[in-house]
Amino acid sequence: MNNNKVYLGDCIEIMKGLPNNSIDLVFADPPFNIGLKYDNYNDKRSYNDYYEWSEQWIKETHRILKNNGSIYIAIGDEFAAEVKIILQKAGFYFRNWIVWYYTFGQNQRKKFNRSHTHILYFTKDKEKFIFNGDEIRIPSARQMLYNDKRAHPKGKIPDDIWEYSRVCGTFKERLGDHPCQMPESLLERIIKTSSNIGDIVLDPFGGTGTTAFVAKKLKRNYITMDISKKYYDVIEKRLKGQTEEIKRNSNHTHREINRNLTLFEFENV
Ligand SMILES: C[S@@+](CC[C@H](N)C(=O)[O-])C[C@H]1O[C@@H](n2cnc3c(N)ncnc32)[C@H](O)[C@@H]1O
Repeated sequence: MNNNKVYLGDCIEIMKGLPNNSIDLVFADPPFNIGLKYDNYNDKRSYNDYYEWSEQWIKETHRILKNNGSIYIAIGDEFAAEVKIILQKAGFYFRNWIVWYYTFGQNQRKKFNRSHTHILYFTKDKEKFIFNGDEIRIPSARQMLYNDKRAHPKGKIPDDIWEYSRVCGTFKERLGDHPCQMPESLLERIIKTSSNIGDIVLDPFGGTGTTAFVAKKLKRNYITMDISKKYYDVIEKRLKGQTEEIKRNSNHTHREINRNLTLFEFENV
C-alpha cells in the first residue's frame, strides 16, 4: 500500500481499494448536508440518500481500520444523532461525544446562535486502542488555581468541550475559498491522542488537506482524497509548502470567504 498519498475521486471507491485492517486513525469531516457551496459536490441531498451514503462510507472506514484503530467524525446538529447510530451499527465502540465550541459568525434573529460542531469519537475495539493522554495534557485548575499537591504535574486530560476558533478569512492559516477548512490545532490534538509516529492517518474528505498536513508535521503517514480537482490541487500544494500559490490562485475576498463560512447560520435566520 502506498502511504503518504493524495487521491482524486470518490472516497467510497478509493477506500474499497485499500486493504482490511491497514489504517491506524480515521478523521472524517464530511459535508454536513446543509447546502454549503462546494466546488463539485451537492450538499443538499434527500434525508434517505445522505443517510445511506453515510452508512456506506462509514462501513468502509470500519473495514480498513486496524483492530486497535480509532475514528473521529465531525458533524453538524442536523445529522449528529444519525451518524452516531450508524457508527454503532457499523460495529464501532463509543468513547466521547466531543463538542467543538467556537464563537464566530453567528447571526440568528429567531433562535439561539449556533456555536459548535460535534466530533464523535469511536474505536474499533472496546478496550484496545491508542490513547496518548500524556501528549495532550493541559494545565488543570488543581495546578493553576488551588496549588494542590495531588495535581498531576503534567496537567489533566482535556474535557470533551474543545474551544478552537474557526479559520476565518483573515487568518494566516486560511487557504483560499474552501467553505470549511478545519483548524490545525484541532487536528493536532486528535492525531497526537490516537496515533503514534509512523502510523497511517486517513481522511476520506480532504478539503484543503488539514489532516494530511498535520499528520505529516507530526511524522505520521497520511492518506487523503477529495472528489474535487480544485481541492485536490490545493492539498497537493499545501503538502509541498506552496501556500502562497494557493492563496494567489484564490480570487475570493476575505468578506466572501467569511460569508460562505457563515452561510448555514444565515440560511435559517
Ligand atoms: C467539510 S469538507 C472537508 C474540509 C477539511 N476537513 C479541511 O480542513 O479542509 C468536505 C470535503 O469533502 C469533499 N467530498 C464530498 N464528497 C466526497 C466524496 N464522495 N469523496 C471524496 N471527497 C468528497 C468535498 O469536495 C469537500 O472538500
